[in-house]
Amino acid sequence: MDRMKKFLEFLREDDYDGALITPGSNLYYLTGMAPQATEERLFLLLVNREGESVLIAPKLYENEVEWENSVFWSDEENPYEILERVLASLNLKGGKILVEDTMRASFLIHIERLLEDCTLYPLSVITREMRMRKDEKELSLMKKAAEIADKVFYEIISRDLVGKSEKQIALEIEFLIRELADGVSFSPIVASGKNAANPHHTPSERKIRPGDFVILDFGAKYEGYCSDITRTIAIGHPNEKLKEIYEVVKEAQESAFQSVREGIKAKDVDRAARDYISERGYGNYFIHRTGHGLGLEVHEEPYISQTNERILEKGMTFTIEPGIYIPNLGGVRIEDDVAVEKKGKRLTNAERELVIL
Ligand code: CO
Ligand code: CO
Repeated sequence: MDRMKKFLEFLREDDYDGALITPGSNLYYLTGMAPQATEERLFLLLVNREGESVLIAPKLYENEVEWENSVFWSDEENPYEILERVLASLNLKGGKILVEDTMRASFLIHIERLLEDCTLYPLSVITREMRMRKDEKELSLMKKAAEIADKVFYEIISRDLVGKSEKQIALEIEFLIRELADGVSFSPIVASGKNAANPHHTPSERKIRPGDFVILDFGAKYEGYCSDITRTIAIGHPNEKLKEIYEVVKEAQESAFQSVREGIKAKDVDRAARDYISERGYGNYFIHRTGHGLGLEVHEEPYISQTNERILEKGMTFTIEPGIYIPNLGGVRIEDDVAVEKKGKRLTNAERELVIL
């Protein structure tokens, strides 16, 4: 596989001796393998700098995954005895070894005992650089995931939301996404009334009522790739203050989007949104970064923060999602997914003008 080849080139270039990869977005990116429910039993791909590799996997995946050299272990066996032999056969006994960032500590603690003379580094030092620049195929999958998010938004606002709880609406959003995609990219956020002052509010039993502003934040996963959209809608006669805030957020989001082009820094995009909001007196109420990279993970590089010096390149994808949150009143956030071409291109396109239901 081309990506694995490229990965090995980077690995040698940076003078690492091997890599230990557990299931997750990096394994999927490099090999196409996406085994589910592997948290408990050791499932590990080992690669050395010569490009030799061995897969150690639980026997229950024997019919599901395929790798040239593989050892499947049964529940009666101790996988770490197998691992010790494999480490020796791949000559991974000393040196600099990359380890999947999200590997469970329970695995890593065992593995460290077998790798006494090794220094461990996070796998992401290489994979985040590779994954940050999306190719045409990846961009088309992200576009699809974004289109599903748009569709779900239009469907959910076509329903009568008054009297439904935040939890109920979150469930309906999840149901709609699962009909069209692999699944959700994260648990949907539905935050109404005062709850909307909390950016990551957990949907509650609070029922939607006239006068509410409601933040809907959700995304779909399509063939592994994530979308992430936020729209804030008004129910009944909108509160004047929140209506004013809505316009500020909308313009801030637009000016951040307009700032996107190849060659500027990630922090310049944050600045565009932040300056707009600050100039209108709401700077203290914009309490998070402007956005985050998006791909196989819903949060990855490049982060659109005040400090990120990363130069934006063609093929990078991220969200732009400024918000204003006023305690005891409510909040507004508008989020789109954007790909860098010469300029920015929005992947999500659902209505950005205030929708009043
Ligand atoms: Co979001
Ligand atoms: Co987001």
